[in-house]
Amino acid sequence: MSQIATLILDGESHDFPVIVGTENEPAIDISSLRARTGHITLDQGYGNTGSCESAITYIDGEKGILRYRGIPIEQFANGPNFIEVAWLLIFGRLPNVEEYAEFANELTHEANIDEGMRHHFDSFPRKAPPMAILASMVSALSCFHPELLELDDPSRFRSAAARLMSKIRTIAAFAYRHSQGLPYMYPDPREKYVNNFLHMMFSMPYDHYVDDDLVRDALNMILILHADHEQNCSTSTVRMVGSSHANLFASCSAGISALWGPLHGGANVAVLEMLQRIHDGQLTPQEYVKLSKDKESGVRLMGFGHRVYKNFDPRARLLADIAGELLPRLDKNDPLLNIARELEEIALQDPYFVERKLYPNVDFYSGIILRAIGIPVNMFTVIFAMGRLPGWIAHWWEQQQENARISRPRQVYQGNGLTDYTPLHGRKR
Ligand code: CMC
Repeated sequence: MSQIATLILDGESHDFPVIVGTENEPAIDISSLRARTGHITLDQGYGNTGSCESAITYIDGEKGILRYRGIPIEQFANGPNFIEVAWLLIFGRLPNVEEYAEFANELTHEANIDEGMRHHFDSFPRKAPPMAILASMVSALSCFHPELLELDDPSRFRSAAARLMSKIRTIAAFAYRHSQGLPYMYPDPREKYVNNFLHMMFSMPYDHYVDDDLVRDALNMILILHADHEQNCSTSTVRMVGSSHANLFASCSAGISALWGPLHGGANVAVLEMLQRIHDGQLTPQEYVKLSKDKESGVRLMGFGHRVYKNFDPRARLLADIAGELLPRLDKNDPLLNIARELEEIALQDPYFVERKLYPNVDFYSGIILRAIGIPVNMFTVIFAMGRLPGWIAHWWEQQQENARISRPRQVYQGNGLTDYTPLHGRKR
């Protein structure tokens, strides 16, 4: 039997339907609230607000569950490659052999960027943050592919998705090469997605980067683990921008900007900086944890806590395992890994973190792995963006299919009452 939620305002009752999701998570549908009562809801940070119904990713933060299209994240640990997972997220089910081959071919075919676009890289300062370059160049794709600005049928959408998935990798690698003053390495059609990225990052014109299976598998897994996370800040941004019917490239560029912040994707950089600070002897792990509990300090234990997970982030568990296996096999004894483990141990026993249910999140170990495979720190969030792209594309398309209303929250105004304009020279200060 369907449930009803009753709101009593000024003695008058108003009934609202309760929507129940596939996994029995209930939500009160208040879409008629303002029309019926004149009231809105106030929910800063949207912690209690469902912005849409979605069939892409399921998270149970209390139990530490993450599933892509119903498949538990742990099942991706030893199997598929990132492109299969991207297809799953974007098109709703696992691809068959032909579909996979066709999409992979399309990615290979689309890996180059227009030469005009490549010239843009030269005008960025050497020290330009790669995230700024990524956001600009993904937006610039709108200029070079005007035929994909309106995606009114699935086959055109598929072309746009393949182009974006493939070109973001080239743009990311070129951003790095530019920052280093190194020659751009063009994509190699013989290489698969992850290997091709590593080639564009690390090959030299006279020296082809030699694939290392361990490195490729670790990076593949990092991309998979970042591929979607339902209505996080950047994905909500993509949906918000897409709700105005802005094109796919513009919407994903906005997502990249949202991801950049240190409370979101930029946390993987902040984690490394924190570990380095401790390693350099500025603070002990104990002192750092103490500081992070002091609200006045403005310091947080980076890579800890999550809006949704009130239990272990399952991605952090998988990444901790990968870091533990990969570093010894690459013969790397990174002192930062030991510091991370020590911080984790201290925090998990500290009542402050226990009471608030703050656990390591995806960013806690990803930076250590990326560092071990030779990715520079300023590229960490770029890798996160490459990983998250299939999720953004999937959400953008899902929303377009629903023909949803433009996203336009309301506010509770708390500013001046009616105030008269004072001419410039009549103002006191
Ligand atoms: N270190 C110390 N205290 C923390 C931390 C932390 N990392 N995270 C949350 N808290 C405290 C916070 O001060 C608050 O305390 P109180 O109840 O006394 O006021 C309580 O825990 C609840 O925190 P909140 O800020 O209300 O939680 P939120 O859901 O708004 O924020 C978060 C979630 C991820 C932004 C936050 O936990 C944080 O800043 N973590 C560090 C940054 C980080 O690792 N971000 C990556 C997130 S996961 C990947 C991604 O989304 O990109």
